[in-house]
Amino acid sequence: MANKWFETVAVAQRRAERRLPRSVYGALVAGSEKGLTARDNLAAFDELGFAPHVAGLAPTRDQSTTVMGQAVSMPVLISPTGVQAVHPEGEVAVARAAANRGVAMGLSSFASRPIEAVTAVNAQVLFQLYWSGTRETMVQRLERARAAGAVGIILTLDWSFANGRDWGSPWIPERVNLRALARLAPEAFARPGWTWSYAKTGHFPDLTTPNMAAPGSPAPTFFGAYYEWMQSPPASWADVAWLRSQWDGPFMVKGVSRVDDAKRVVDAGATALSVSNHGGNNLDGTPAAIRWLPSVVDAVGGQVEVLLDGGVRRGSDVVKALALGARAVMIGRAYLWGLAANGQAGVENVLDLLRGGVDSTLLALGRSSVAELNRDDVVLPPGFRRSAGS
Ligand SMILES: Cc1cc2nc3c(=O)[nH]c(=O)nc-3n(C[C@H](O)[C@H](O)[C@H](O)COP(=O)(O)O)c2cc1C
Repeated sequence: MANKWFETVAVAQRRAERRLPRSVYGALVAGSEKGLTARDNLAAFDELGFAPHVAGLAPTRDQSTTVMGQAVSMPVLISPTGVQAVHPEGEVAVARAAANRGVAMGLSSFASRPIEAVTAVNAQVLFQLYWSGTRETMVQRLERARAAGAVGIILTLDWSFANGRDWGSPWIPERVNLRALARLAPEAFARPGWTWSYAKTGHFPDLTTPNMAAPGSPAPTFFGAYYEWMQSPPASWADVAWLRSQWDGPFMVKGVSRVDDAKRVVDAGATALSVSNHGGNNLDGTPAAIRWLPSVVDAVGGQVEVLLDGGVRRGSDVVKALALGARAVMIGRAYLWGLAANGQAGVENVLDLLRGGVDSTLLALGRSSVAELNRDDVVLPPGFRRSAGS
């Protein structure tokens, strides 16, 4: 059997492109409008340099830390992604990989697998919610997450229903019925490895969202769940504080850019926030998450755990974010490429690459643990930072 190990996330992405049907690959590339934010999430990391030492380096280096009350083996979490049809085992494969590597996992409410199947294989699951539906339905979702053993909540707030991409959006069927199959058949036949992986299971991707189901009701389709969310009036800060009061454990708000919003997240009682722009999938033109990170850390870093997600593709990116004050990072596309390329082993491969990259960067910087990283370790070009609100 061919060696399926890959040496970088970029190689995994190329394999994912070769393996996935065009529509599924396009849904992962995502981005919005002109793709400015998605591109800047990557470009901003490239602008940051390192200030390495050459002697007196640490012979061993410790990456373990705690995030949202969880002891983790490295400062990387799986970011929640509502992505369907990448792999037949979907989030369960990701959860096993994360558990094997001592990494906590965010599970999207738009995920393809029920939370109970995911917590059964990973004891460090953070359930992600959108402000969608009535307060009653949101409380039901929290209760279900609690009963399933979720150890924390991620409330994702950065979504404004932008649509349209200059490079074209993939067609996604409401249901995988005969008509949809006929339309998708040319793509599926062009990707026999992926098609066979589903054929072996005896069913097609069903494109439903089991974690959005009302008690005793069938899972809504992806579009059904999306419609509920679109119809829900956007959350006020009082709503955020109310939802936080319904969960007596770690609670993250994901999607923050501005300092004034970060302060309101603190006021709402959250224990963590992620500086994030949804991987460039939301308001296009929002600067890269890493550009906002230092100002958010300066403002609220003493009061909440500050994480970052958006654009992390290698271990040195993780170190850059930690040097600028993040407690940990979350990864999205990086593990999705691994999942597409080689299932659970592919996600483990990605986590191992990040771990190896963090380790060699710590070595070069003369740091013996991730806790020692600080701003002296990176070189910021003039004008790198962004800050808004006070
Ligand atoms: C295809 C796709 C689906 C996503 N779905 C969700 C989601 O359901 N919930 C959520 O909070 N974030 C979602 N995100 C955003 C990720 O959690 C994360 O913020 C983003 O992927 C980080 O950027 P990166 O992909 O460059 O690592 C999604 C991202 C992608 C690429």
